[in-house]
Amino acid sequence: MILVLDFGSQYNQLITRRIREFGVYSELHSHRLTAEEIRQINPSGIILSGGPNSVYEENSFRCDPEIFDLDIPVLGICYGMQLMSHHFGGKVESSSEREYGKADITLNGSSKLFAETPEKQVVWMSHRDKVIAPPEGFTVDATNPSCPIASMSNESGKMYGVQFHPEVRHTEYGNQLLKHFVFDICGAEADWSMESFIDIEVNKIREQVGDRKVLCALSGGVDSSVVAALIHRAIGDQLTCIFVDHGLLRKDEGQSVMETFSEGFNMNVIKIDAQERFLSKLEGVSDPEEKRKIIGNEFIYVFDDEADKLKDIDYLAQGTLYTDIIESGTETAQTIKSHHNVGGLPENMQFDLIEPLNTLFKDEVRALGTELGVPDHIVWRQPFPGPGLAIRVIGEITEEKLEIVRESDAILREEIKNAGLDRAIWQYFTVLPDFRSVGVMGDARTYDYTVGIRAVTSIDGMTSDWARIPHDVLERISNRIVNEVDHVNRIVYDVTSKPPSTIEWE
Ligand code: XMP
Repeated sequence: MILVLDFGSQYNQLITRRIREFGVYSELHSHRLTAEEIRQINPSGIILSGGPNSVYEENSFRCDPEIFDLDIPVLGICYGMQLMSHHFGGKVESSSEREYGKADITLNGSSKLFAETPEKQVVWMSHRDKVIAPPEGFTVDATNPSCPIASMSNESGKMYGVQFHPEVRHTEYGNQLLKHFVFDICGAEADWSMESFIDIEVNKIREQVGDRKVLCALSGGVDSSVVAALIHRAIGDQLTCIFVDHGLLRKDEGQSVMETFSEGFNMNVIKIDAQERFLSKLEGVSDPEEKRKIIGNEFIYVFDDEADKLKDIDYLAQGTLYTDIIESGTETAQTIKSHHNVGGLPENMQFDLIEPLNTLFKDEVRALGTELGVPDHIVWRQPFPGPGLAIRVIGEITEEKLEIVRESDAILREEIKNAGLDRAIWQYFTVLPDFRSVGVMGDARTYDYTVGIRAVTSIDGMTSDWARIPHDVLERISNRIVNEVDHVNRIVYDVTSKPPSTIEWE
């Protein structure tokens, strides 16, 4: 295991990610971890991440100085290297100017970190301060005109530092450098895989749960589906899932979730048909925020009612991911969004939590799902908002309008899949604006609805660009929707990015 200590760099998750890609387990922890705690974890190596601080600032993030005495190899990256240098008596120069972007370095000597890589290489720099005099016992391994100590090491003490970021793809030999550290210097074994993860987690869950019972809110989304499949692998019928059909799902979705989990996995899934309950509460409501509030609250009431009927449940399973935890703000990273629990479940529920995915990234959860036999259509499911189609029918919701969105969306999904674009586009769906326009069908005038197509590319949903779907695919989608869905006579394509738009229309 390689331990990454977090000093607040925007790239620190990437370090962990890269190392896991090598098949070596890695975790990111707070820089406040004590040397004793680290001794207990017993990692093969420690990486000190970058960070926004300056080592001379009064409140800058520090680590327990005794970690340098643990006889565990340490690699300091950027701020991590400055911290190491400062600790061992080197000199760090504070600067108000930032060096940001690609830079050339020239190797100097024969550090194990750079073994078998060229003398000149391109790296990614992102720093203000820099080391200007290495500590005693350290050699300078790489230089750059504006940063003469781009890398340093004390090989006998197994201490290494790089001013640049090897975890960023723009650093040409970054992966080799990290591999040299992880394998050659730390002697870590590549023994981490999804199979071993499943074995370890299944054992942990069995130990934790014993013969008690676990409840899971299954939405059919990737995270809740994979968590249910994993826990089911561990404890079988001691797991009960609740799947709430609020009547705002896409075409055939409720049936598909039940077929997959209740029939395919033979899980205890209680499907709650709450369409009537939700739709009656939404009657006459056209304000998007009000719709969301009604749906969120109703979900809690329904879940609460059902959970109450079940006896002796001790645990609630949640599909919390590593990124949810990191994004809820470690003490170093800025809070991006608050950690949300599944479907906004009430906080006063009397359950202990089980969150077996909380060390995984999204793509790892997908790989885990595949390994557990969760079908591709769920593992690769595009994000779908909790309020479902309610926020894709603009304004007041009626059964007729829901039907138009459901049918047009099904056609869009089918054509995108046929065109082989379903994994390349982050999200694609149809929306129904609250107006009608004039058209002509056969010889007759029509006055009917317009369907909007929204398709975006994105990394994380925070920003997005409109997807450049080929015109012939758009043409097929448009023809089919107008011909196959009643009361639609016009199709428009949304060509706005986020910002200034949002992905959903409401
Ligand atoms: P926006 O529309 O804000 O959406 O650009 C960003 C991402 O979040 C999804 N989304 C939601 N997900 N509950 C959810 O679970 C919601 O109320 C909600 N609103 C938007 C949206 O589909 C996109 O992936």
